[in-house]
Amino acid sequence: MTLRSQRQSPAASASIDDHMSQRNFDKLARFIYDYSGIKMPPSKQTMLEGRLRRRLRVTGIMGFDDYCEYLFNEDGLQAETVYLIDAVTTNKTDFFREPNHFKYMAEHALPELERNHPGRPLRLWSSACSTGAEPYTLAMVMESYLEARPRSNYAILATDLSTEVLETARKGIYGNEIVDPVPQALRQRFIMQPVDPRRREIRVSPKLRSKVGFARLNLMDKTYSVGEPMHIIFCRNVLIYFDKPTQQNVLSRLCDCLVPDGYLFIGHSETVTGLDLPLRQVANTVFRKI
Ligand SMILES: C[S@@+](CC[C@H](N)C(=O)[O-])C[C@H]1O[C@@H](n2cnc3c(N)ncnc32)[C@H](O)[C@@H]1O
Repeated sequence: MTLRSQRQSPAASASIDDHMSQRNFDKLARFIYDYSGIKMPPSKQTMLEGRLRRRLRVTGIMGFDDYCEYLFNEDGLQAETVYLIDAVTTNKTDFFREPNHFKYMAEHALPELERNHPGRPLRLWSSACSTGAEPYTLAMVMESYLEARPRSNYAILATDLSTEVLETARKGIYGNEIVDPVPQALRQRFIMQPVDPRRREIRVSPKLRSKVGFARLNLMDKTYSVGEPMHIIFCRNVLIYFDKPTQQNVLSRLCDCLVPDGYLFIGHSETVTGLDLPLRQVANTVFRKI
């Protein structure tokens, strides 16, 4: 079945077939898990249907089972996977989310890394960066820290599986309420206000945007390259969507990308308990590579 053959008139599209068969849900859940690591237990069926409804409207496909037939046939997977993944990922994020991490970074991790790697540009990776608030926060922290050390330099890699969030992140344009948690002094330096105040949005400064490189990267991939080893990796609020074996694989690969003694930050509601990793804990949800 092709996408085109499924398109319906706008009147007909008012009555999208509202339910997915058990068989198709299982197949879809399996595909999402294998591809992204995201668990999709039966209790999430209604949520999945809700998230895919917009996709059905955009494609003009009349029902979830037709959507699955399209997805799992011919070139469906190749054409549709990116959109399916955009729909199923949860992208909630904030500037200075879990602020203790940034305090720890400025007060402990950066001075320590500077001592151990003198004269080397620091490399940071936000590995599930969503719409960009996390890597731009890292850039603000780095800029503040390096203000008194003008010859030092750094680079931030920011990656995510969802192409939709990466598009927003690259633009660096947000609704103005998102910067509420940003301290006033940093807001003045790095956040640009619109010329027309009726446009209730802000933009991250070109200086900050120039320090962050965005790319699509699937943490489930068996191999990937991020260049030279990283000094700091943030992998926050994505492990919660993975089961233990997936967490083990994802974090093992991240550890391979860290310099010895490099830092790993995970989300406050996440844990590495029960996983076999070359890490020692140095603060709540902060680890160093052994
Ligand atoms: C809740 S957001 C967390 C954003 C940010 N780290 C924070 O803590 O504010 C989770 C992000 O993980 C991404 N994600 C989910 N599975 C992924 C995978 N297999 N590889 C890379 N990113 C993934 C999602 O697209 C989403 O943007």
